Amino acid sequence: MALSIGLLRRVRPLAAGLLTLALLVLVGCTTNETTYPQTTLAPKSDFATLVDDLFQTTFFWAVIVFVLVEGVLLFAIWKFRGRPGDPEPAQVHGNAMLEIVWTIIPAVILAVIAVPTVQTIFRTSATPEHPDVEIEVIGHQWWWEYRYPGLGVVTANEMHVPVGKTISLRMWSADVLHSFWSPQLAAKRDVFPVGPRFQKINPLWFRSDTTGDFSGQCAEFCGIQHARMGLRVIVQTEEEFAAWVAQQRLGSPLVDGGRVPAPSADTLAPPSPALGLPADDDPVVVAGRQTFVAGGCIACHAMVGTPLAGQVSLMGPNLSHFGSRRTLGANMYPNTGENLAAWLRDPQRMKEGSLMVLPRPLTEDEISTLVAYLRAHQ
Ligand code: CUA
Repeated sequence: MALSIGLLRRVRPLAAGLLTLALLVLVGCTTNETTYPQTTLAPKSDFATLVDDLFQTTFFWAVIVFVLVEGVLLFAIWKFRGRPGDPEPAQVHGNAMLEIVWTIIPAVILAVIAVPTVQTIFRTSATPEHPDVEIEVIGHQWWWEYRYPGLGVVTANEMHVPVGKTISLRMWSADVLHSFWSPQLAAKRDVFPVGPRFQKINPLWFRSDTTGDFSGQCAEFCGIQHARMGLRVIVQTEEEFAAWVAQQRLGSPLVDGGRVPAPSADTLAPPSPALGLPADDDPVVVAGRQTFVAGGCIACHAMVGTPLAGQVSLMGPNLSHFGSRRTLGANMYPNTGENLAAWLRDPQRMKEGSLMVLPRPLTEDEISTLVAYLRAHQ
């Protein structure tokens, strides 16, 4: 008796510890998207639903197997437990029938699970024949570039898509391996650096069933800021999306080499504040553009109204409609004037290892001019 109480005392903290650990692990499985915006358990697209259905099916089978096996195990331990004075049990070596049975049953279960698994693999790897929106996704250390060749939009980190439409992504990398992952909309998919000898462009598709702002993440280790190579997918109504496209097309490198059409008398012609761009002779624009060139920003960033507005392959993100973005630094900071000023003051402090290296420190005057300039471009 004394022995079993002593044992219980020792076992109890261990059991409590294990239970706590199990609870902590289970809390990670919540579908609460507010607390865990990158949950895979709250699918918001048909692609993510396909994957989730497969997960639920396999999980269901796994639970059945677990309960049966553990039930039989516990029953056997209890039923055939040793009692004081028991004789030596009969010694056996192997049981051919049992071994055949417990090999065949798992094989059959795996074969059954393989059917929906293979179906899902094929369906999720397909390239849609008639997508509504095509987007090129290019991974960079440590940000995402999006080009909409059919719509003439180039942007960074925040992908806008219309709800209920089939989105087809073609994805590659400008430097090293990355992996595009928007957990509630689509599964992880690697993006490979392409070159003359290697041209693997990975496809991915999804059709979101609800509007919303979904965050995502690079899912392949790609260097010091891998963990902060974030992204957003903003799913909008068709009208909102069309308005966004109309705004982003202005000065896009994919539309007339980045030239903004001159205002005409008979239409509400761009650029107009309604379409997100300040007038060309606005003092904020004039001073900002000058600082953008003098400060060296122009070496890496395309920007509407500057000589390199039409460039699509510069090192840094296109900044033409920067003011309309919700975040900066690849979903790292809210896009506020303070954060932008801090970024321009010392990009390495804001994102250590970032490839943004200033040719010389900017003065406080230059920083406030650039903040006003970039934020004025919606
Ligand atoms: Cu890009 Cu990790």
